[in-house]
Amino acid sequence: MNPLLKRLLHLRNTIDFPLRSLLSFSTPYSGRTEDKSTLFNSLCSTRKKSAEAREVGMRTRYSLDALYENSINHEYLQNLTTLEFLEQGITNTSAAPKIKLLDIGSKYFCYAPAIHAFFSVRHPGKPVQLTGIEVDAYRRFIDLHTRYDYAQYYIRTIPAARYIAGDFLKHEGEYDFITWFYPFIFDYAHLVWGLPLNLLKPREMLAHAYSLLAPGGTLLIINQYHQEKAVQAELCAQMLIGPTSQEAIQSSFTDSQVVRYSTVIKKAY
Ligand SMILES: C[S@@+](CC[C@H](N)C(=O)[O-])C[C@H]1O[C@@H](n2cnc3c(N)ncnc32)[C@H](O)[C@@H]1O
Repeated sequence: MNPLLKRLLHLRNTIDFPLRSLLSFSTPYSGRTEDKSTLFNSLCSTRKKSAEAREVGMRTRYSLDALYENSINHEYLQNLTTLEFLEQGITNTSAAPKIKLLDIGSKYFCYAPAIHAFFSVRHPGKPVQLTGIEVDAYRRFIDLHTRYDYAQYYIRTIPAARYIAGDFLKHEGEYDFITWFYPFIFDYAHLVWGLPLNLLKPREMLAHAYSLLAPGGTLLIINQYHQEKAVQAELCAQMLIGPTSQEAIQSSFTDSQVVRYSTVIKKAY
């Protein structure tokens, strides 16, 4: 990254980020919906047909009717993709009587329904408690609602779900499963997403995520691009925490050319 651009973005974010964190006033977001008939229009006709069939199957399996009716298309798509990534990345179940889940860097948590549905179906009859945490929770959309407001909307029907506005590095707890979609590994994405460089701590974040896993717990990380996945593996190796597996994963619902990888880390009992 150009050093001058890096300095400028860092300077801007050093001013912007604390300011918007202070301006946290909230106005309840009540959702929007879109016609889902165009959901897979970006796919070629063969892929579109199979995506439509798969979507119907997932909607039934994970009881997504309410989400289908009350979401805009790209958010619904993110839920479908999240479910596919979870199906490919999480193959184990937990013996814990109550399943405690944490999602790191949840943005506005529109994919909370997918995480909750996946683990509820995997653990029938057990209570599933979902927490999302986001350091930039008061970033505002064009409609002036914050990520926090949106997150409250997306978790409104999920029992025992919460969205924490805060720094993951200061969060404590113990979780059976931790999900971490697209962590910042390199400075470019971190800066473009509006965060100051003093918050870019991929090593500390990974160590902390591992420390919050319950014995027998699983951490699933999804990275984009080969370079991110390679650094992620290197960080795990330096900390002697695995990974247990690292694989390329795909979504049948989008035509994204970006290659994604899952890194699965399991903590011993
Ligand atoms: C690339 S985005 C991914 C967002 C989301 N997981 C998704 O899949 O759409 C990374 C997110 O992590 C958040 N983040 C970065 N550092 C964090 C920290 N220390 N604690 C909590 N969230 C953090 C960022 O603000 C950003 O929203």
